[in-house]
Amino acid sequence: MSKDFIIAGIDIGSSNIRTIVAQQVKGEENLRVIGVNSVASVGIRRGVIIDVEDIAKIVGEAVEGAERMSGFPVKHAIFNIGGSEIEFANSKGVIAIGRADGEVSEDDINRVIGESQMIQLPANKEIVHVIARKYRLDDQDNIKDPLGMKGVRLEVDALVIESSSSQVKNISKAAYQAGIEIDDLVLEPLAAAKSILTKKQKELGVVLINIGGGTTSLAVYEEGELLHSTILPVGAGHVTNDIAIGLRTSVEVAERIKLEYGSALASDVDKNDGIDLAQIDSREEGVISRHHVAEIIEARLEEIFALVQKELKLIGKSGLLPSGAVLVGGGAKMTRIAELAKDVLGLPIQIGFPAGLGGILDKVDDPSFATVAGLVLWGQYQTEEKKDGFGLSKIKAFEVFSGSTEGTVEKIKGLFKKFLP
Ligand SMILES: Nc1ncnc2c1ncn2[C@@H]1O[C@H](COP(=O)(O)OP(=O)(O)OP(=O)(O)O)[C@@H](O)[C@H]1O
Ligand SMILES: [Mg+2]
Repeated sequence: MSKDFIIAGIDIGSSNIRTIVAQQVKGEENLRVIGVNSVASVGIRRGVIIDVEDIAKIVGEAVEGAERMSGFPVKHAIFNIGGSEIEFANSKGVIAIGRADGEVSEDDINRVIGESQMIQLPANKEIVHVIARKYRLDDQDNIKDPLGMKGVRLEVDALVIESSSSQVKNISKAAYQAGIEIDDLVLEPLAAAKSILTKKQKELGVVLINIGGGTTSLAVYEEGELLHSTILPVGAGHVTNDIAIGLRTSVEVAERIKLEYGSALASDVDKNDGIDLAQIDSREEGVISRHHVAEIIEARLEEIFALVQKELKLIGKSGLLPSGAVLVGGGAKMTRIAELAKDVLGLPIQIGFPAGLGGILDKVDDPSFATVAGLVLWGQYQTEEKKDGFGLSKIKAFEVFSGSTEGTVEKIKGLFKKFLP
């Protein structure tokens, strides 16, 4: 890149809306984080936007704080998409090479990927990602990156990821109302994987598990390729609700009990340990058992990991991922969660912290910033067309026309082109 540029990421989550403003400084490898903000969210349930006005307002607040900190106005940003039913479809594209000398150009690759997304979509679905798995050039198969090779006919086997149209529309409307143009939409688990997983982990086999407030999303990689991804409608907010119901406290008190006294392993907590409710909230009274709180937490988190295990079984990878599972999201910060996950999944477990960024990192060095950190890294990847992170030969996300309330996903547009001076 010949010029410095700014990339912003906005993660619309069930519990929090987070923003990072990052600067790419010429000659520096890592993006510099120059603005960070996180605001509690309203208007989103289990990752699904239910009130566009509320979301637009909070996106505005989240962006404002990050703008103040960075000193740069945010006019456009990369957003995550989550919370909706994801569907995968395999598809193919075929084109004739454009240049007379038969050399495969960037344009040919864009065209063949464009062809692969010409599929029959259900009425309520939009394409959010098209991932090229492999290319075929005439008789040569299993090509990862055909750029510069010579031939006549180029084919691609692609994976198309679809999300719900209403979610895409609602993100578009909220962004539009907040006055921010959408550069790109990235599926939450893929964004989180971008800031967390190493090339080696993706090569060996790994599952990223993002435990948010209303959802748990996962992405499974092997041999550098995305094998599977899904978003489950249950998250760490359900743990809080279970505590509120089990102990008959308010949700606010239950959240504080969870954060201050919680553990994912009941066997680890002394049965005689008590929590004085009056210490948490003067309107509450009585002493509750810390062991009982841990039992409630353990039961719900065990259920979440069992659902993840079911997904791994579905793709034949249960217990078979050498790099194990990496936990991120606010839920991954629960005391002893790694031990519980290890018991249920039978895999080595790590807690993931975003990597690959420089600048002001004190807030960002946190598992719950995995998604938003991944969004700016995604932008950097698209901008510089680095092909290191995904282990995939080509990823193209689709642009949303943010000005249109129809919010339809329109066309392939390599984000990097937009940033070129
Ligand atoms: N230190 C902590 N210990 C345990 N849980 C925590 C901690 N910090 C945050 N959490 C929990 O993490 C959850 C929020 O996680 P996160 O911010 O990743 O969610 P989100 O991205 O807003 O939601 P989603 O991705 O599901 O839409 C809340 O349920 C919160 O209670
Ligand atoms: Mg999230």
